[in-house]
Amino acid sequence: MALSGLFLVVFLLQHFIINFSSVVSPTTFNQWSHFMGYNVLVQFVLQPILIFGVVFHFVMGFVLEIQNRKSRRISYAQFKGNKNAPWVSRNMIWSGGVVLFFLILHFIDFWIPELNHKYIEGSMFHAELSDPSRYYSELVHKFESLLRVCVYVAAFVFLAMHIYHGFSSAFQSLGMKKKHKRSLLFFTQAFAIIIPLGFCFIALYHHLVSIHTIVPHA
Ligand code: HEM
Repeated sequence: MALSGLFLVVFLLQHFIINFSSVVSPTTFNQWSHFMGYNVLVQFVLQPILIFGVVFHFVMGFVLEIQNRKSRRISYAQFKGNKNAPWVSRNMIWSGGVVLFFLILHFIDFWIPELNHKYIEGSMFHAELSDPSRYYSELVHKFESLLRVCVYVAAFVFLAMHIYHGFSSAFQSLGMKKKHKRSLLFFTQAFAIIIPLGFCFIALYHHLVSIHTIVPHA
């Protein structure tokens, strides 16, 4: 769980950097997206590893939750909820479940249309069918819908809660040294707030761009 979680955090950081480039420079966003989308190593080695990592993390999360519930059949003699463990750490299964639900929507929004364009329409194997400057306008178009922006922002709040506990807990599971505890906790909690806030900013920014139709040309 800890290793797959840390791997997903690394993915999240690179995903954030690429998506944030869409705010700073649409041309760079198009170039990076095209590279990631058509590079053979990324598509046929890294992406399957990522998908495996996502599935593994979710399946193991549910399995561990079931095991914990079974071993907790005999309830604690004294259970003081928030005093024993904070709310976010006791509800990882729920925050994780919301992130899983978001991922399904997100795949329908972005990933499945990409797979369709590449493997059904055939742009992966016929370069003349691919347009390297399409990504920015497609992204802005997706965030035209205020409903989608609201759903994404709500999901990013749950993502923040999930990483707020999960990121530091992963280091603890891997045997983090006591002397590093405070600084690691500061780093992981800052990450858990800054990155989801950044994702919220990206979604809101593109919504504003789309409604003002000031789509800069890449
Ligand atoms: C405003 C925020 C976000 C934007 C604009 C965004 C954008 C995108 C885009 C354009 C793709 C398709 C990439 C391609 O296949 O060419 C994608 C895929 C994906 N996104 Fe996001 N994303 C956002 C947030 C997130 C978050 C928070 C997560 C994780 C919790 C996430 C996880 C994924 C995954 C796993 C894929 C499929 C793998 C991949 O193609 O890289 N995304 N996203």
